[in-house]
Amino acid sequence: MIAATVGSAVGLGNVWRFPAEVQANGGAVFLLIYIICIFLLGIPVMTAEFALGRGGESDASGVYSRVTPDRKGWQLAGLMAILASYLILSFYMVVSGWTFEYLVQSVTGYLYSSPLPGEEAFRDRMGSFITGTYRPIVMTVIMIFANMYVLIRGVQAGIEKMSNVMMPVLFLLLVIFCGVSLSLDKAAEGLEFFLKPDFSAVTPATFINALGQSFFSLSLAMGILVTYASYFPKDSKLTRTAVTVSLLDLMVAFFMGIIIFPAVMTFGLQDSNLAGSALVFITLPEIFAQMGGTRIWSSLFFLLLTVAAFTSTISLAEVSVAFMQKRIGMSRIKAVLTVTIPLLILSPICSLSVGPWSGYTICGLTIFDFLDTMTTNFMLPIGGILLCIYMGWVAPKSFFRREITNDGTLRSRALGVIYFIVRWIAPVLIAIILLWQLLRG
Ligand code: PHE
Repeated sequence: MIAATVGSAVGLGNVWRFPAEVQANGGAVFLLIYIICIFLLGIPVMTAEFALGRGGESDASGVYSRVTPDRKGWQLAGLMAILASYLILSFYMVVSGWTFEYLVQSVTGYLYSSPLPGEEAFRDRMGSFITGTYRPIVMTVIMIFANMYVLIRGVQAGIEKMSNVMMPVLFLLLVIFCGVSLSLDKAAEGLEFFLKPDFSAVTPATFINALGQSFFSLSLAMGILVTYASYFPKDSKLTRTAVTVSLLDLMVAFFMGIIIFPAVMTFGLQDSNLAGSALVFITLPEIFAQMGGTRIWSSLFFLLLTVAAFTSTISLAEVSVAFMQKRIGMSRIKAVLTVTIPLLILSPICSLSVGPWSGYTICGLTIFDFLDTMTTNFMLPIGGILLCIYMGWVAPKSFFRREITNDGTLRSRALGVIYFIVRWIAPVLIAIILLWQLLRG
C-alpha cells in the first residue's frame, strides 16, 4: 500500500521539477522552505486527504457527497481537483515523452555518439530536441498510447508489481550517482548552492513555488490520494503512512539535488538559458559520460525514470477515468477513450509551445509553463485550502477522529496537532502565501 502511494508520489516531480525549482529559486533557501512546507502543511493535508478517501470510499468528488450528503456543493471541490489533475497530465505527458526519448537515445548510444559531446553538446542536443516539431510529439503520442493500453487492460496488477521492483532499484541508482557526482571537480560549490541558504534570495514567489512544488510532488489535492486511500485496508495507519510517504518522497528529491548541483557547477550550467525544465536531461548525461559503462547506466536510469513517469501518468489519468466510470456511468473502455483521446491534441499543443509556438504566451508564459504554473501554484493550493476547510470545519470531527484512530483502536497522539493544523494553520497559511503572491506579483 505504501509502495503504491510512493509510486504515485515519486515521479518527474522529484527528478525533473524539483531541481529546476531549486535552481530558479535561489538554491538552499528554497530547499529549507520546501522542507518546512512538507512537514507543516504536506503531511497534515495528506493525512486529511487519506481520511477523506478511506472514510468516503468513492471517487474524488463522490467522497464529499458520501461524507456529508446534505452539502452537495462540496463536490465542486472534488471536480476542481479532477480538472487540475487532468491539466497536469497534459504537460506531464510531454515530459514523460522526453524521458522516453532519452531512454531510446541511451540504448542506441546516439546520445553519446561522436563527435563527442563537449562542453555544450548535451545542452544543445536537449535544446534542439525539445524545441523541435515532430520528434517530441511522436514520443509524447507513444506514451499516450501506452497509457491507453494499460488503462484499458486494468491498472492494478501490472503497474503495482512493476513499481514494487523499480522503486527500490531507483533508490539504489540514485545513491550510486550521488557518489559519482560528489567526486566531480566543483562538488563543493554545488553543495554550497544546494545546502547553504542565502536569505537575500527569498521573494514572495519562493514561498508559493515551494508550496506548489510540495503539493505537486506529494500528489496532494488532485484527487489521487483520495482515490488511492479508498482502497486502503481499514486497519492501515493513516498518519504513519502519510509520514512515510512524505519522507521517502523528500529523500528522492534531496538525492536529486545532491546529484544535480555538483554537476551544474562543474559543467557551468548555472545560467544556461535552457536550465530549468531541461536541467535534468543535460546534467545527468554529463555525469553518465564521466562514468565507465556510460550507456548502460544511462539506459538503466532513463528506463527507471520512464517507468516512474509512466506510473504517475497512469495514476493521474485514473482520477478522471474513475470519475467517468463511477459518476457518468461509462464503461471502462469508453471512459479511458474519453479521457485519453483529447490528450492527443492537448499534449502536442504543450509540446509545440516549448518550441515553434513559444512566441504565443499567456501572461508572459508559454502554454506549457502557463499550465504548469496555473495548476501547481494556484489550483493545488486552492484545492488544499478547500480540503482543509472541509475536513476541519464541514465534515464532523468524529469522522476525522474515527479515521485517524481507526475507530478508536489506535491512540493517536498526533490527532490533536493534525486537527489543529488542518483547521487553523494550513488553510490560513496557504491563503496568506497565495494572496501575497497574487498581490505582490
Ligand atoms: N507526484 C508526482 C510526481 O512527483 C506527480 C503526480 C501528481 C502523480 C498527481 C500522480 C498524481 O511526479
